Amino acid sequence: MNFQLTEDQLLIQESAKDFAENEIAPSAVQRDKEAAFPYDIVKKLGELGFMGMMVPPEYGGAGLDTISYVLAMIEISKVDASCGVIMSVNNSLVCYGLEKYGSEFIKQKYLVPLAKGEKLGAFALSEPEAGSDATKQKTTADKDGDHFVLNGIKNWTTNGTTADYYLVVATTNKELGHKGISTFVVEKGTPGFEHGVKEDKMGIRSSDTSSLTFENCKVPAENLIWEEGKGFNFAMNTLNGGRIGIAAQAVGIAEASLDAAVKYAKQRKAFGQTISNFQAIQFMLADMAVRVDAAKILTLKAAALKDAGKPYIKEGAMAKLYASKVAVQNALDAVQIHGGYGYVREYLVERYLRDAKITEIYEGTSEIQRIVIARSLLDHKY
Ligand code: CAA
Repeated sequence: MNFQLTEDQLLIQESAKDFAENEIAPSAVQRDKEAAFPYDIVKKLGELGFMGMMVPPEYGGAGLDTISYVLAMIEISKVDASCGVIMSVNNSLVCYGLEKYGSEFIKQKYLVPLAKGEKLGAFALSEPEAGSDATKQKTTADKDGDHFVLNGIKNWTTNGTTADYYLVVATTNKELGHKGISTFVVEKGTPGFEHGVKEDKMGIRSSDTSSLTFENCKVPAENLIWEEGKGFNFAMNTLNGGRIGIAAQAVGIAEASLDAAVKYAKQRKAFGQTISNFQAIQFMLADMAVRVDAAKILTLKAAALKDAGKPYIKEGAMAKLYASKVAVQNALDAVQIHGGYGYVREYLVERYLRDAKITEIYEGTSEIQRIVIARSLLDHKY
């Protein structure tokens, strides 16, 4: 693996860092407090090409590689993991899925504005009774002439109340199990489609998450993605790439925790000296730094494999599994180093801890990542 970033990749990293520090950081604390969605920031992210980074320019995207996307995700998430997840879902679940599996009609109508950041996307797979066990879809889509009629409930949808276009997974043939599942693009405002109230979350509070309800919601047949019966494969294939995005988000939180801990340790005095002089603190910082680099390398490796057109499912799952654990551990250690100050909102580390936890849960829990990794090792599956 080549560890040398290209000039273009370094440029993307630098511009994401600049944008994060100058445009995202100033409002991050307030937005977290108020659970306020960053409308202006998302608009600007779109103008800068960060909402459709890997989509070819002919479909409105920036035409960049996955490594550039990972680097940008790390910088954005270092400052605000809420902006990170909004960007990740739009890029690696919605845009990637439509570019890879959408018809030309779908690409022109939906992918182009999504990749330009003019519209926002959401990915609706989970249901009240189908989270990790995602094949147990209860939402139905019954064919009726040139339409499908959707009925059911989706849960935990990122960008649930704010998206314009939703990729909705539903059963078109119950008899066939996961081979009878299909995916559709549903526009906000389609009669019979409502979103629920915003969830009151522990972390990533500035991103919105909600349920979706479909009651006799008529969706044109041309909005079917890929083909009937391929919806579960669509969701799995798309999530494989999504997991690289979440790994990058987790690396960002882990790195922010390390930076905050180093800064605080160098300032805080106890027993007549700065606490950075104590080996107990030094060892924690050293372990945090090792974990950040290891998680980053795993994430970049998965991205490099994807860019090279090589298999990356196991590596993406490994990156997410490890980076999410590292995000939680580093945030915990940063709080510990801050002592009582780590437990109050005046310092950022308590938000890092609240934001970190979800990376072990969404886009496949850590337990699901282990299943994917183990099946790759033992059964040569995926
Ligand atoms: N990549 C590609 N294909 C995969 C796959 C993967 N990682 N995992 C499963 N598949 C395919 C299988 O090959 C199989 O396809 P075929 O029948 O065509 O061969 C099909 O999916 C069914 O797979 P299994 O027989 O292995 O099914 P299973 O029920 O034993 O296991 C699972 C499936 C891996 C547990 C799957 O249900 C899963 O990944 N669950 C987690 C779902 C998830 O990540 N949800 C996150 C929701 S999105 C989100 O978080 C919202 C957000 O807004 C951020």
